[in-house]
Amino acid sequence: MSGFVEKPEPIQVPGLVHLHTGKVRELYRNEAGDLVMVASDRISAYDWVLPTEIPDKGRVLTQLSLWWFDQLADLLPHHVLSTEVPAGAPDDWAGRTLVCKSLNMVPVECVARGYLTGSGLAEYNESRTVCGLALPEGLVDGSELPAPIFTPATKAAVGEHDENVSYEEVARQVGADTAARLRQATLAAYSRARDVARERGIILADTKFEFGFDGESLVIADEVLTPDSSRFWPAEQWEPGRAQPSYDKQYVRDWLTSAESGWDRRGEQPPPPLPRQVVDATRAKYVEAYERLTGTAWS
Ligand SMILES: Nc1ncnc2c1ncn2[C@@H]1O[C@H](COP(=O)(O)OP(=O)(O)O)[C@@H](O)[C@H]1O
Ligand SMILES: [Mg+2]
Repeated sequence: MSGFVEKPEPIQVPGLVHLHTGKVRELYRNEAGDLVMVASDRISAYDWVLPTEIPDKGRVLTQLSLWWFDQLADLLPHHVLSTEVPAGAPDDWAGRTLVCKSLNMVPVECVARGYLTGSGLAEYNESRTVCGLALPEGLVDGSELPAPIFTPATKAAVGEHDENVSYEEVARQVGADTAARLRQATLAAYSRARDVARERGIILADTKFEFGFDGESLVIADEVLTPDSSRFWPAEQWEPGRAQPSYDKQYVRDWLTSAESGWDRRGEQPPPPLPRQVVDATRAKYVEAYERLTGTAWS
């Protein structure tokens, strides 16, 4: 079982056509044909969009993405046209709305990993490979890889699990030329971001990008380098051989799988609402990631 615990009713705005309710974002098309992407405060975990929101999360993710698009601007064109709230939209869209170029999206989750953990670690433990790429012996949870790797995944529908695929499979699906461009762009963007984050005491363990085509031009889209799309670890606490503390949904996941929540991850029931202290701690983590990365106080 998975999906939305409570499916939100999208807000209707004159002049905007509602296109899609994503896990976190509402998508609209404006009269100019551009995409209006509004980040909500929704949070997902274990393939569920939870019934509890994290205050300010949508704004933090949006502002952090904008900051990163700037950091990557000399490497890659991005999809943001403006941050203007469309006329007639609620005031609280400010800070979490991006007007974007509507792209022909490539249906591949472009993951780059510089460190071993998560699904990569699980595969490594089975076969000494990640997405079919051979890796040296002796790596453990949190180890830095000899070099960053491109480990694409197929994009799953809401409530379904993304699945790692080989590079060859991506090439079959989107063509060899596009696959090569995705890999090159993903690794270039990851390497830049890793270096920027490292200067700020944060390890960027891995991250996921989405790209789309504007004609022949490959453009970086969606959100980038947020705690929802990336694993950020405080560098001073990095210690390979165990799970690393991270700037994301760790509190949420830990609480959901604790006895206190009473929830069975593998059962039929949707997850329960989050208690106040879990919400507050999670909000604080998102804000801390923003502040530490950008060097700017959150307001
Ligand atoms: N420039 C763009 N053009 C078209 N689609 C985009 C663009 N940028 C992002 N998207 C799509 O918008 C959606 C963002 O909403 P989100 O809540 O993150 O959805 P998801 O549940 O798919 O993660 C994603 O499906 C993403 O592929
Ligand atoms: Mg998304």
